[in-house]
Amino acid sequence: TGMFTYDPGFTSTASCESGLTYIDGDAGVLLHRGYPIGQLAEQSSFMEVCYLLLNGELPSAKELADFTTTITRHTMVHEQLTAFFRGFRRDAHPMAIMVGVVGALSAFYHDSTDINDPEQRRIASHRLIAKMPTIAAMAYKYSVGQPFVYPRNDLSYTANFLNMTFSVPAEDYKIDPVVVDAMDKIFTLHADHEQNASTSTVRLAGSSGANPFACIAAGIACLWGPAHGGANEAALNMLREIGTVDRIPEYIARAKNKDDPFRLMGFGHRVYKNYDPRATVMQKTAKDVLEKLGVNDPIFDVAKELEQIALNDPYFIEKKLYPNVDFYSGVILSAIGFPTEMFTVLFALARTVGWVAQWNEMISDPAQKIGRPRQLYTGPTQRDYVAVDKR
Ligand code: CMC
Repeated sequence: TGMFTYDPGFTSTASCESGLTYIDGDAGVLLHRGYPIGQLAEQSSFMEVCYLLLNGELPSAKELADFTTTITRHTMVHEQLTAFFRGFRRDAHPMAIMVGVVGALSAFYHDSTDINDPEQRRIASHRLIAKMPTIAAMAYKYSVGQPFVYPRNDLSYTANFLNMTFSVPAEDYKIDPVVVDAMDKIFTLHADHEQNASTSTVRLAGSSGANPFACIAAGIACLWGPAHGGANEAALNMLREIGTVDRIPEYIARAKNKDDPFRLMGFGHRVYKNYDPRATVMQKTAKDVLEKLGVNDPIFDVAKELEQIALNDPYFIEKKLYPNVDFYSGVILSAIGFPTEMFTVLFALARTVGWVAQWNEMISDPAQKIGRPRQLYTGPTQRDYVAVDKR
């Protein structure tokens, strides 16, 4: 012992240098390439933010048009990929399907696996960003037993995703600009978040030189957990379970009880100890969407009231627990018509750009090495083997 720094959960270890995303957790600041997340969510678009994260600068009008065309050109998946979906039980969790199918992509693209060639890395990155909506929508279609809907290249990235998800053979999905705008904001708010667990997983997997599609599948697996991306699903399930405002105190009491493992899902963050700037935009968007869609969902009242009670409770104040990005996203997604099982899939779709941008940054970093943490050994000291009849 004493040789290595012991830092469980890496709360004080910087694993890399990165120029992508800046977070000041105490001030509630999140910047992508210097631009505040609030401005990007309100004024930019997800495609533009993808370009920014990948290339470092906001695109010109022409650059954005070219980038959008490139992504659009890659939205189709090989027809054979449908066989992978059909191999799953129809009630499989869509995140299980995502881990499998995105991993399977690694077997389809042998022409973009030389990770030392920047051009091949670029193509693999574009493919991943382009195909995630297609695969996510297919996972949804499979779970509800409807036929897959092919991508439509005349639609925007986000409108195309909604169309593939909600169109049925008898009736095309009516694209509502309010819904497209809200969905696009949700994607933007989830695009990157520096060295969170899933991004660190992608970097660690990628540090061995592994296939990029396999690395992203590893990131999806990590994101699935309820302490990370799975929190949006868990948060909405919790709001539904609470159901009515009068039951909130019971749940607050449970969250504060040391002997009860229950946590208020959608509250707390490893880095944000003041507020989560993404949650601010999300709350406003939730209000707009529910109003414009005329949805009168009691869980929004539960969410608002729960937030107020928690923000004024000494336990939450002392532990600096605030609503995070996942607290309100579920309310919006549910109003749009997504089942809760799809929430984390949408997070994965949006985070893919962050994962590939971080992966690219890592591979091009001259200081890059295989990730290899050490440990503090706590097992027995050396001892001699004892034959089984002597034990
Ligand atoms: N409800 C009740 N108590 C909580 C909560 C919560 N949501 N979050 C933390 N605490 C308490 C925890 O019990 C601990 O108390 P004590 O110091 O007395 O043992 C203290 O606050 C610190 O918690 P921690 O688990 O040591 O903090 P962490 O930085 O390791 O965990 C977290 C951060 C996000 C995993 C945690 O706050 C949590 O489990 N939140 C609920 C799940 C959630 O909403 N996750 C989404 C995070 S944002 C999106 C994403 O990352 O994907």
